[in-house]
Order: sequence, then structure tokens, then C-alpha cells
Amino acid sequence: MSTTPILEVTNLRVEYHGDNRQVVAVNDVSFSIGEGEIFGLAGESGCGKSTVANAIMRLLKDPAEITGGQIRFKGRDLLALRGEELRRFRWKEIAMIFQSAMNSLNPVMTIGSQMVDIFTTHEGLSVKQARSRSAELLRLVSIDPVRLDSYPHQLSGGMRQRAVIAMALALEPSLLIMDEPTTALDVVVQQEIMAQISDLQRQLGFSVLFITHDMSLMVELSHRMAVMHSGRLVEMAAAELMFASPLHPYTLSLMNAFPPLTGPRVRLTGLSDSVRAGDGSSGSCSFHVSCPPDRANCSGDIPDLREVEPGRFVAEHPRTSIEGTAA
Ligand SMILES: Nc1ncnc2c1ncn2[C@@H]1O[C@H](COP(=O)(O)OP(=O)(O)O)[C@@H](O)[C@H]1O
Ligand SMILES: [Mg+2]
Repeated sequence: MSTTPILEVTNLRVEYHGDNRQVVAVNDVSFSIGEGEIFGLAGESGCGKSTVANAIMRLLKDPAEITGGQIRFKGRDLLALRGEELRRFRWKEIAMIFQSAMNSLNPVMTIGSQMVDIFTTHEGLSVKQARSRSAELLRLVSIDPVRLDSYPHQLSGGMRQRAVIAMALALEPSLLIMDEPTTALDVVVQQEIMAQISDLQRQLGFSVLFITHDMSLMVELSHRMAVMHSGRLVEMAAAELMFASPLHPYTLSLMNAFPPLTGPRVRLTGLSDSVRAGDGSSGSCSFHVSCPPDRANCSGDIPDLREVEPGRFVAEHPRTSIEGTAA
């Protein structure tokens, strides 16, 4: 895996404008994704994950507005793309699989005609060439090409989701964004699909932004991951490291809310009320009560994400060391 970032999100801020109030859905979010890296973004429903994804895809519409920050893709300013440039970049450079994507297939068109359309529209292939590329793509996601002539309702949920993945990969994007791609599927199928994404990623080398509220699934798949709460990142590190020793109380409760995919059965604790309390809009930290006593500098204000070890970031105030000197 190369460490050259393909995507760099810096201090991103997105607001939704309501009639008489503004919701800051994404607040000062920064992260980057390396070439060939699978980067996970975890957090509860409503914390701002899809808003981040839609900002990167340049799909945000009124009442949403990007009010701060930068998004760079392969060094280019994504937020400056317009018209034809934007059209060429979307799907060809960055493709996205949406939440409940498997229900987004057109029910009255065969899988084959939907795939052929992608190649004839974007790459100008003949129908014959497009059909042969479509058959290859289906094989890539372990679907028999005879399924080109099936309608979506004739496929299982898992197969429909695989077909959607194949379509997203059709134009060989460098970055694939998956926004809760498997939430509608049962656990076994979810795992099979994610293992397949992992294989495809190794074969084809694309980068992935993988969004889920399920920490267990995320750890299985991601190289690095970030945890989001109320529009902000609270922790970011190598996935295994964060899973083995989470530093932020919210990361810990999110982890405890999901059973590990393998290993012994554990009792789920769910998210505690103190962690859920506060949506961050008040400007005070929701984790003040669960903060360890050695945070002498903590006055209840929201801490910035800081690098506490190389590559390991957490939103906490600096600790006061045992000797009594500020770290
Ligand atoms: N169309 C909208 N209008 C107003 N507010 C919205 C809209 N969509 C999302 N939001 C706000 O943005 C927050 C983040 O939403 P979203 O990015 O969809 O979260 P997630 O994907 O993590 O569930 C929500 O809590 C909601 O307050
Ligand atoms: Mg979402």
C-alpha cells in the first residue's frame, strides 16, 4: 500500500440551512486516503457520514452547503470542478455505492441492459463490446454472465448488491465510496460481500472509503479508520490498533455496541446515555463526564483531533502526566 494520498479532506464543514436554524452536519473534518488503502468511517446514524461522502462526490444540494475546508483528489481541487469536468470525474474517478443501493437497480431493465448503458454512454463502446465487458464484470463479482438477461427481482439480495458493485467498478474508478453498502443484508452475506470487495481491491488496486455504523465489519475490512460523532472526528488510527486499544470513550462504546464477527459471544452494552448526550451543537463536549481525571486542561470545551502518536489521532485535551507536568 502506498502512502501517497489520493484523497485529502481538510477542515471540511458542511451546513444544512433550515427555516430558522442551521445544522452543522460536518464540522472541521480532516482525513486522507492513500492509494490502494481501505479507509473506514464509522459512527451512529445522523453523525454526518453520508454528508461527507456526498460532499466528496459533489452531490450535495440545497439546503446543504460546504461552508469551509478543501477536498483534493490526486492533488486537484475537487470543489472547483464544474460542468463537463465534474461529469467526467464522477463515476470514472470516484464511484459511490449508496445506502440501500441494491434497491436502486431499475426494476424494468435487465441487469445486462443497465450495465451495457454505462459503457455505451461513458465509453462510447458498441453494444456488442459493452455486453462482453459487462459479462467480464459480472464474472469479477462471481455472478454467472447468464444473469445479464435477468431482471433485478430474479436475483437474491446479495447478488443484486454484487451487481451494483460491478457497475460501480465498470469505469475503473481510483476511489470507491461505499455508504453502508450491506446494511440490508444478513450477516453472512454481508461478510461474503465485504470479503469480495477486499479481494477486488487487491486485484484492481483502487482505494475505498467504507462507511458503516458497524465497527466489527469495519475492522475486518479497513486498513485505517476514523470514528465520527456529531459531525466531528473523535479518533483516527490504524484499524487494528484502534480496535485493540480505543482511546476515546465514544469509540469504546461504539465498539461495545457491535458483536465481533468472529470469536466468543459477548454481551452487548449499547451506547450509554452520557455518550449519546449532546449533539455537539451547544459547543460543549459531550464526553466531559466520561473524561479521565488526568485532563487538567479540560474545561468542557470540544477538543480538536490531535496526533498523540505517529498516525494515531484522538480528540482529547492534552493529559497532565503523573509527574504533574503538562504532556
Ligand atoms: N436534507 C437535510 N436537511 C437538513 N438536515 C439534514 C439533511 N440531511 C441530513 N441532515 C442533518 O445532517 C446530519 C447528518 O446526516 P447524515 O450525513 O445523513 O448522517 P449519517 O449518514 O451519519 O447517518 C443529520 O443528523 C441531520 O441533522
Ligand atoms: Mg448515512
